Amino acid sequence: MSAAESIELPAWAEVSGPRRDHIARVTTLLLTWARALGLDSATTAMWRDAGLWHDALRNAEEQQLRALTSDTNRPAELLHGPAVASKLEKEGDRRSELLDAIRWHTVGHSTWGQTGRALYMADFLEPGRKFARADRVFLSEHVVHDFDGVFRQVVRQRIEWAVREGHFIYPETVELWNSVR
Ligand SMILES: [Fe+2]
Repeated sequence: MSAAESIELPAWAEVSGPRRDHIARVTTLLLTWARALGLDSATTAMWRDAGLWHDALRNAEEQQLRALTSDTNRPAELLHGPAVASKLEKEGDRRSELLDAIRWHTVGHSTWGQTGRALYMADFLEPGRKFARADRVFLSEHVVHDFDGVFRQVVRQRIEWAVREGHFIYPETVELWNSVR
């Protein structure tokens, strides 16, 4: 059984094959960091769930995402995080640090706890992405030695890429950068 087959997603997940592999790699990275950092079992479980569930509605229809989030304005690609958070909340999950991590994982958030920051890093540093491989391996191995320092580099690199590509920078992302620089 491959890592991707063995991961447990919610029954309502809408996830393509390649996305499932990405989810497995992100979760593996988060668990590797959590163990190396000696986190307690509740926090480790929260990091694992953040990895497992953050993209659970990544391939859902826009209509479903808008219905779940009651959001008619934001671009569709920003809605899968908030939609998953709303699903989990309805199912009774009360771990606000986990819900915020998932809700904001696409744009970032300045009020994040460690879980949101770890997910944001793992999503970018997971080894399946093709660009800047050596640099990202270096950063990923450095997380356990300097969590905040690597987080700042990841925020910086994600913003630099977005500007280079001519993408819109969301206010939450700007606030995040100003909070870590
Ligand atoms: Fe992701």
